Amino acid sequence: MRYQGREVDIEGRVRLVMESTLTARDRVGVQDFVLLENHNSEAAFIENLRRRFRENLIYTYIGSVLVSVNPYKELEIYSKPQMERYRGVSFYEISPHIYAVSDNTYRAMRTTWRDQCILISGESGSGKTEASKKILLYYAVTCPTHDHMTTLGDRLLQSNPILEAFGNAKTLRNDNSSRFGKYMDVQFDFKGAPVGGHILNYLLEKSRVVHQNHGERNFHIFYQLLDGGGSDLLQMLDLERNPQNYQYLVKGSCSKVSSISDKTNWKAVMNALLVLGFTEDDVQTLLNIIASVLHLGNSQFGEGEEGETHITTETPIANVAKLLGVNASALSEALTHKKLTTKEEEVIIPLNFEQAVAARDALAKAVYGRTFTWLVEKINQSLALKDDMYHSNKAFPVIGLLDIYGFEVLQNNSFEQFCINYCSEKLQQLFIELTLRSEQEEYTTEGIAWEMVEYFDNKIICDLIEEKHKGIISILDEECLRPGETSDASFLEKLEDTFGSHPHFVTHKLANGKTRKVMSREEFRLLHYAGEVNYNVNGFLDKNNDSMNRNLKEVMCQSDNRIISHCFSIEEVTDQKRPQMAATHFKNSLLKLLEILMTKEPSYVRCIKPNDAKQPGHFDEVLVRHQVRYLGLMENLRVRRAGFAYRRSFEAFLQRYKPLCPETWPNWDGRLEDGVATLVNHLGYQPEEYKLGRSKIFIRLPKTLFLTEDALQAKKPEIALTLQTSWRGYRERAKYKRIRHAIIVIQSAWRGMKGRRRAKRRRQAAELIRRFIKGFIYRHEDYCPENEYFLDHVRYSFLMKLSKNLPTSVLDKSWLASPPSLTEASEHLRKLNMRNMVMKYCNRIQPEWKNQMTQKVVASEIFKDQKDNYPQSVGRLFLDTRIEREQINLKVLQTLGSDKVLYGVPVTKYDRRGFKPRPRQLLLSNTFAVLVDRTKIKQRIDYATLGGISVSSLSDGMVILHMPSEDKKQKGDVLLHCNHVIELVTKLALIARMLNYINIKPGSIRFAGARGDEGIVDFVRGSELKVAKGKRGHLLVTAPRINTT
Ligand SMILES: Nc1ncnc2c1ncn2[C@@H]1O[C@H](COP(=O)(O)OP(=O)(O)OP(=O)(O)O)[C@@H](O)[C@H]1O
Ligand SMILES: [Mg+2]
Repeated sequence: MRYQGREVDIEGRVRLVMESTLTARDRVGVQDFVLLENHNSEAAFIENLRRRFRENLIYTYIGSVLVSVNPYKELEIYSKPQMERYRGVSFYEISPHIYAVSDNTYRAMRTTWRDQCILISGESGSGKTEASKKILLYYAVTCPTHDHMTTLGDRLLQSNPILEAFGNAKTLRNDNSSRFGKYMDVQFDFKGAPVGGHILNYLLEKSRVVHQNHGERNFHIFYQLLDGGGSDLLQMLDLERNPQNYQYLVKGSCSKVSSISDKTNWKAVMNALLVLGFTEDDVQTLLNIIASVLHLGNSQFGEGEEGETHITTETPIANVAKLLGVNASALSEALTHKKLTTKEEEVIIPLNFEQAVAARDALAKAVYGRTFTWLVEKINQSLALKDDMYHSNKAFPVIGLLDIYGFEVLQNNSFEQFCINYCSEKLQQLFIELTLRSEQEEYTTEGIAWEMVEYFDNKIICDLIEEKHKGIISILDEECLRPGETSDASFLEKLEDTFGSHPHFVTHKLANGKTRKVMSREEFRLLHYAGEVNYNVNGFLDKNNDSMNRNLKEVMCQSDNRIISHCFSIEEVTDQKRPQMAATHFKNSLLKLLEILMTKEPSYVRCIKPNDAKQPGHFDEVLVRHQVRYLGLMENLRVRRAGFAYRRSFEAFLQRYKPLCPETWPNWDGRLEDGVATLVNHLGYQPEEYKLGRSKIFIRLPKTLFLTEDALQAKKPEIALTLQTSWRGYRERAKYKRIRHAIIVIQSAWRGMKGRRRAKRRRQAAELIRRFIKGFIYRHEDYCPENEYFLDHVRYSFLMKLSKNLPTSVLDKSWLASPPSLTEASEHLRKLNMRNMVMKYCNRIQPEWKNQMTQKVVASEIFKDQKDNYPQSVGRLFLDTRIEREQINLKVLQTLGSDKVLYGVPVTKYDRRGFKPRPRQLLLSNTFAVLVDRTKIKQRIDYATLGGISVSSLSDGMVILHMPSEDKKQKGDVLLHCNHVIELVTKLALIARMLNYINIKPGSIRFAGARGDEGIVDFVRGSELKVAKGKRGHLLVTAPRINTT
C-alpha cells in the first residue's frame, strides 16, 4: 500500500523499503552498499552495481552517499509524481534516488537552518550535470514559490542552457561535456521558497577555443550561432554558415554531432537569455565577441625575409576590429609585436611566426575566457536575491550544488588534467574528513565508543601539489617567473630534484625498470588516491603563464565593445604587480571553494559511467572498476562500514522485526530501547554483533541483519495469516458495527417519525374533538366560528350518507332523517329527488304503458279504498280488449260500421225480472256501448244517455248501468256481471268520460226496471261468488271475502 509516496503497511505504519527489498537481493542487489557482506571486495561491490544497473536501478547508497550510474537512456523516474513520492520522505523509506538526496538536503536545511551542499563528482560523461539539473528541477517544482519571485526557479533552470552553450563542448567522452567547474548556491527564504542564486565558475578549458582533439568540438555556442542564427545576423557578423570555413572549428574534424541539435539549442539559449534579463544589446555585444573569435582564428601570418611576421589576411582582422570596436592597425601591430617595458624605456620587439600565432591564440582564449566570466557575473546579477524584498538576507540558508570535474586520466594528460585531478584530490580530502567527522558525530551523539577507522589520508598528495614554496604548483610558478632560460624540461628537472624520494612522485629517471617502460621522459607520475596518472610537462609553463602581450591588452582596453572593455581593465596594464599564475589562481579559488564547502553540511552524489560508448544497457566492468577505484568508493564504504554496517532508529527497527519475538509482537508497550533489547536477545544477537545507542541500534555485520530479515521472511506467512485473521475479524466487526449503527439510525429515525406523526395525529384529533364538542354545544346557534366545523361536518356527512342511500324507486319512500340544521334542505332534496325519479321514470315510460298507467291511475281514483277486490286488480295489467276482433260476429261488425270497437269483454247480463243470467259480449266504441248476443246486437247504450254506473264495495263483479228513465226504448238499468269489473268500469269511465258518475255502494244498489219499477241488488260477503234471486225479489250477490292479511 502507498500513502503519500511512502510504503505503508496495513496498520498504516511506515515500512522501510531498503529492508523490504533485501529478499530480492540476489536479483536486484542491495540498496545500500553497507549491506554488502564482503565490504572489502571490489568484485562484490561491482557485482551489486551491475545487478542493479541491469534492473534499471541506477541509484544505490553508501550510507548517505548516492552512487549513480549513467543509464544513457531516459528512465521514467523523474516525473512530477515521482517527485511527489520523495517529498518529505526519509532515506530508507523509499528506493534510492537523486530526489531523495535533494529532498533530504532541503529538509535538513529547513529544519536545522544550516547551509547545505550537494557535491556531485564523477568522470566526464558520468552524469554530473544531468544530476545537478535534476536537483534544480526538483527544487523548482516542489518548493513553494515566493509571490514576487515566481520566476526564480525558472531562471535557475534557464541558466543551464546558457552556461552549457558557452562552457560545454562535445568531447570524445561526452557529447555535452562541461569544460568548467561549477558551484551554484540556491538561497531559500524562511518559507522554503528559492529566492536567490549565485554561480561560481572554475577553470574554463580555454585551450579548446583554439584547438580541439580529433573527434571533439569547440564550445557549442559557435556551432549554434552558425546553424541557428538568422541570415541577417550572420551577415551582420560577417559570418558564413559553414563551420568548415573557420580554423578554430575544424581542428577536431567534427562539426556535426548526431545527438545534438544546434539549431534547437540556439533557440533555447536565446530564450534563456531573454528569461534571465539580457537585453538585445547585451546579446548583440556577446555575439560580436563570439564572431570575432571565429574571425581571429582565420587571421593568418606570413614570415618576412628577416624573420619578421606580418598578417596575410586583412579581412578577418578588419572584422575582428569592427566587431570588438578596436583599431584594426593597432590590433595588427599588437598581434605581430611585443612591448617590453624595462625600468627606463619601452621596447617593441617583432614576434616570430610561432610567437604571433601564440599571441593570436592567447587573445582568442582570453577574450573567450573573460567573456565567459562576464556571462556568469551577468547571470548572477539576474539570480541575485533582491535585497529590498527582505530586511536582511543574512539569515537565509543556501543549498550549494557542486558540478565539478572528476578525476581524469587521459592518454595524454596535461596541465588541465593536473589541475582537475588536484581538485578531485582536494575534494576527496574534504570528503573523507567530513564523512569521518559525521560518522564520529553520530557515534558521539549515540553514546557509542569511537572506533578507530583506518583510511587512506591523501594529505600527503595534496601537500605534494599545493604546499607553499615546496609543492609542484610553487615550483611551476617559480619556473615561469625565474629569469633566464626556462622550459618545461627544466621544470621537470626541478621536480625531480625536489621530490626525488617522495612516495607519490615518479619520473622516468626516478622510476624502476618496469615503470620506466611505460613512461616517457617528458612525463612525471603522481600516485593519486584514485590511481596513478602520468602528466606530460609539455605546455605546462605556457598554460600556467596564461599570458597575453601587454600591447594586446592595451588594445582590448580601448574596445568599444562593452563586454570587452569591462573584461580588460586599464589597471591590469598599468599595474606592475605580477599577475597570478593559472595554477595558483586555480589553487586559490579551489581553497576558497573548500572553505565555502567546509561551512556547509555536505551530501554526496558519486556518478559512474557504465561504458565509453554512451550506450544504454552496457556495463563495462573494467571501466566501472576504474571509476569505483578513483572515486574512492571502496574507501568510502570502508569508512562507513568501519564501525557498523547497519544502523536504524529503535522505532524503525522494532517496527519491522517485532513479529520475530513473542514479547514484542504485536505491540511493545514499554520503552523502545527495552523493546529492541528484548527483541535482539530473543534473536540471539551476540554482544559483539550490535550496540544500542541512544536512539539507534547499530549492527556490525550485514549477515546479522540478513539472518534477521530472512527470519522475518520465513515468519511472514504466519504474520500474514494473523494479519488476515485479525483484518477479516476487524473488517467483519466494522461491517457489523456499521450495519448495527445504520439500523439504529434508521430505527430511531423511523420511530421518531412515527412518534411525531402519532403526536400530530393526536393533536389534530384533540383539536377535532374540541371543535366537535364546541360545535355540538353551539349546534343550535347560527352558523358561527364555534360551530362552523361541526355543522359543516354534520352537513357534509349527512349529504354524503344521503348520496349513498337515496331511494332508488318512486315507490321507495324511505329518506334519511336529517339533522336539524338541514331539515329544510333535506325536504327540498327529497322532493327534488322524487321529482327527478318521476321525471326519469316518465321519460323512460312507453305509450302503451302510459296508457296502462293512466288507466290504473283512474282505477285507483275510482276504486282505491272503495272496493274490496281493487287491491287484487292493481297487480294485474289491463288488457286492450278481452274479445279479439275475430271473436266478434261479422254481422255485428258490419252493423257497427265505422264505429271502432275500443274494448270488448264477455259479461253476464241478468234480466231485471227473474234475474236470468245471459252471456253477452259488451263492446265499447267511442260513443256507445253494445251488448251482443252472438250475432245480434241486443242493446245499444249511448254514453250520452248513460245516467251513471254503480258497483258494490265488495269483491263481486256486478256493474249496474243506469239508463235514463224517460227513454222509452230502454228497458231499465242494465245489470251485468263481469269478471274484470275494475278494468271494465275504468275503461267505460274513461271512454264515456264518466269518471264522476260512478257510485260505489255497500249493502244494496237500487236499479230501475222496465216500466218504471225499481229493483234492488243486495250485496253480502260470503265464502264464494254467487248471484241468485234472493228474498223479497232482490238480486242477492254474495261476494267472496278477500283475505287482506
Ligand atoms: N540520469 C540520466 N538519465 C538519462 N541520461 C543521462 C543521465 N545522466 C546522464 N545521462 C546522459 O549522459 C550524458 C552525459 O551526462 P553529463 O553531461 O551529465 O555528464 P557529466 O558528468 O556532466 O560530464 P562532464 O564531466 O563531461 O561534464 C548526458 O548528456 C545524457 O545523455
Ligand atoms: Mg557536465
